[in-house]
Amino acid sequence: MASALAAGPADIDEGIKGYQPAPETVIAKEQFRDDKFGVFIHWGVYSMLARGEWVMNVEKIPYSEYSKLPGGFYPSKFDARQWIKQIKASGAKYITITSRHHDGFSMFDTKASDYDIIDASPFKRDVLKEIADACHEEGLTLNFYYSLLDWGRDDYPRDPAIAHTEKEREMYAKYLDFMCAQITELLTNYGPIGCIWFDGDWAKIKKPEPGQEMVIDFDWGYERIYRLIHSLQPSCLVANNHHRIPIPGEDIQVFERDIPGENNAGYGRTSHVSTELALETCKTLNKSWGYDIKDDNWKSVPELIRILLSTAGRNANLLLNVGPQPDGCIPEESVKRLAEMGKWLSANGETIFGTRATMLKPQKWGVLTHKDNKIFLHVMELPEDGVITLPFTLKAKKVKDFANGAALKFKKTKKDFTVTLPDWADATVDYIIEITL
Ligand code: GLC
Repeated sequence: MASALAAGPADIDEGIKGYQPAPETVIAKEQFRDDKFGVFIHWGVYSMLARGEWVMNVEKIPYSEYSKLPGGFYPSKFDARQWIKQIKASGAKYITITSRHHDGFSMFDTKASDYDIIDASPFKRDVLKEIADACHEEGLTLNFYYSLLDWGRDDYPRDPAIAHTEKEREMYAKYLDFMCAQITELLTNYGPIGCIWFDGDWAKIKKPEPGQEMVIDFDWGYERIYRLIHSLQPSCLVANNHHRIPIPGEDIQVFERDIPGENNAGYGRTSHVSTELALETCKTLNKSWGYDIKDDNWKSVPELIRILLSTAGRNANLLLNVGPQPDGCIPEESVKRLAEMGKWLSANGETIFGTRATMLKPQKWGVLTHKDNKIFLHVMELPEDGVITLPFTLKAKKVKDFANGAALKFKKTKKDFTVTLPDWADATVDYIIEITL
């Protein structure tokens, strides 16, 4: 590591050079793609302050004070089974939960630190274990969010003044051991894990020149971390919310608050969209990740469904966030929305789950998903002439309205395929056409 550091930022942190995913990893990646929809959970002692998970940093709360919060953390209404039932009702196939966020508090029983839910809170219950058991019972895949940076530990080198010095290397070597010990616990004590989802890499970037790609200016030791994950559980995927071009050893490319290929949130510092890695967009239900008592900017259900369609139509998954309250309940507004999405998915899930979207790029009228001998056209905007044109020909046996089964008029030429929309077509949310090949 040290010699790699000395070589300078350009050739550090290249992940696992020549990475070839193991057969188990390849299978898990396809399963992940099939799953399409997951629920993100941001929960920690920050939830008590009810102003999001960045509150300590944003409000410059001294760590010496902040670290007293766990002493009062007692989410008396927490019920893992109820959470997982509420989440499952949304149609989601997996959850990704914060095991340790930037504030450094571990929401699980870790031997690597006393700043955890068992040693530092009166609750003394390993909530991740309870959640893991409930997930396994209900057949949901369990993924762990894990922060690379830490606002509290003495060995995490936060000070930019020590960048690229021996001091930084020494500190980080210790901190990396700590992270590897925790990752080992997470992958040993909670059964099969679908993915470790890293966050915080962006804390160590060299500010890019305008218009330039972001340069990482630190050796996180990803080769060691990624190898550890793949060796402990070969079917556990690696995702890293680093907002840059994926490096070898990663299996999922993450897009924070953006659908792949768009850069509206301003985080995606590259327009690169991988064709090899699985893709995942993470979004909030309101505007916050961690519980924010004043945030009532709830997205409407049609908007959420259309977000799911726009990710599925880009061959990507959607990870939709809930921020549980300090009492241990998922906010009611979130639960309602999850249930509504579930209703829509129980009627239309066949056109989303297990599909891919590699036949056609998103069009003005909507997106195309496909599975086996079925193609689904999700019309989200009615074309003026009432005709959907696919820019390739198809040998279709049947074309029908997915909702009521009515046969629809279609025509194929040598170079395209058209479907005439019926006059009842309503694209307020999604009008679905099913083509059988
Ligand atoms: C950002 C935030 C973090 C949040 C994450 C979720 O990286 O720093 O608080 O957990 O996004 O995508």
